[in-house]
This record gives sequence, structure tokens and C-alpha cells, in this order.
Amino acid sequence: MNLERKKKAQQVGLLGRFMAKLPSSCPLLYPLYLAARLDTKEETYASSLWPREFDGFKIAYVSDIHYGSLLGEKRVRELADRVNALHADIVLLGGDYGEHSDGALEFFQLKPGFRANIAVLGSFGNHDRTLPEENVDRIARAMRQDGVIPVLNDAYMLQRNGKKIAFASTDDFYNGTPKLEKVARLCEKADFTIFFPHNPDILPETQKMPRGLFYQLAICGHTHGGQVAVCGKAIKSSSMYRNRYLSGWFREAGADILVSNGVGTSGLPVRLGARAQINVLTMKTKA
Ligand SMILES: [Fe+2]
Repeated sequence: MNLERKKKAQQVGLLGRFMAKLPSSCPLLYPLYLAARLDTKEETYASSLWPREFDGFKIAYVSDIHYGSLLGEKRVRELADRVNALHADIVLLGGDYGEHSDGALEFFQLKPGFRANIAVLGSFGNHDRTLPEENVDRIARAMRQDGVIPVLNDAYMLQRNGKKIAFASTDDFYNGTPKLEKVARLCEKADFTIFFPHNPDILPETQKMPRGLFYQLAICGHTHGGQVAVCGKAIKSSSMYRNRYLSGWFREAGADILVSNGVGTSGLPVRLGARAQINVLTMKTKA
């Protein structure tokens, strides 16, 4: 193992790897137990702006898997089975597939096989955008080989009876090169845009754009709900805005925002006050 790879492999830390070997099925080890549980949070999202042509459309959002020493191949396969059983129209993968970009590449090389009625779309997280820079193309290629469409400073459009919806994402806000103006332009003709960048910390940037917001709904991950949170506050926040986008629903500048707790863990295989989750939205047109 070369020095760079060795350094990366040590990112999780000895304590994390030791804890990952403890029995997570034992409720007495509650934070470990909780980290290994996964909720499916199903909700209805109703908006008068959502086109009637897409009434009943089902979106599954899966973020922050963090494949690696804390969450291995068996759990990845179980996760894919569980997501596929939802028969969603679109599956959005929210980024942070591994602990670093080599891990993200290995994740897609496993060919987890996420499936949807229409498309599986993938965003890039800060952990996916660690060096080397060339990994971004390698990951995108591996995604495509597994049937996932990478959405990197891009928008995926769907059209029914002349009505268009867009699913858009930038590159990662912390480690990538997000191109908000380009993404906004791509969404100009959409009747409804769902923006799904990995990190909600990019959202205040969109609020400063001269032509206003280009999306009606944002779906993000990154915060892990704090991973360990007490009374709705993260012990250690991964957001520059601390608890502003910790978990759940928010409304800012006329747009709705959903922040998922995500699936995996980073650093240590523990959760408290922030249950792991996949999110399912059934989109309804409000009369
Ligand atoms: Fe993450």
C-alpha cells in the first residue's frame, strides 16, 4: 500500500474500525445498534406548483452511505434490495458513497444495482471529491456502468404532456467546483425543479443569485442529522451553518428544503438522536 492510500485508509481511525467489529445487534450498545438500523421515512409532498402530469410521482432519496470499514458490502447489497423494493420512479443518490474518492469508486465497482422505474441519478459529496482529481471521471464512469446517471453541474429533465420537471445538482460545495449559474440556466424551462446537491450549505449561495431561486424543492444530505445529536443539536456539526440545516424540513426564500439523516456514518459507527434513514416522497399536486 502506498503512502497516500495508507493515509486515506487511516482516515476512519483505529477506534472506528475497532467499534465496527463490535456486535451492532445488541441494544445494550445503543449508539452502535442505532447506527446499524435504517428507517424508511415515507412522506407526501404536496404543492400547487407540482405539475398534475406527475401527480403521484415517487422519489427515493439515499445519501451518505459511506461504504468502507464502517459499512461493508453486505449492507450495501441489503440497502440496494430495500431501495429497489420501493419501486420509485426516480432514485436520487445524494453522495458520500465512500469515505474518500477511492472508496466511492470501489462502491460503484461493487455494482450495487440501484434501480428505479425511470432513472437513478447520482450527486457528488465532499468525500467523493477528495484527491486525486481524476477520480471524479472514474467515479462517473463506474456510476454509468452500474446504471446510475451522474448529475454534476447538470440537470436531468423529464417531460409529460409538455410539462417539464428537472432534477439538478452541482459539484460538491466544499471540495468540488459548483457551477450554480450553469445549473440555473439548464433548469430555466422546467415547470418544477428539484435541486439535490450533497451539502445544504450551498443553499444560501442560491439565495444570493440575481435572478432568484431556480428550484422549488431542495433535497440534501451531508449533515447525518448531526450523527450524534442532543436536543436537536449536533455534538459536532459538519455544516458551516451548524444546526441551520441539521435534519428534516425547512423553508427558505420560498423553497422547501429536506435534509436527510443519511444511511451510513463517518468517523465512528455510532448514531444518537439522528436515526439513519432513506427518504421517500410521493409528489402530489395541491388543488
Ligand atoms: Fe456524509
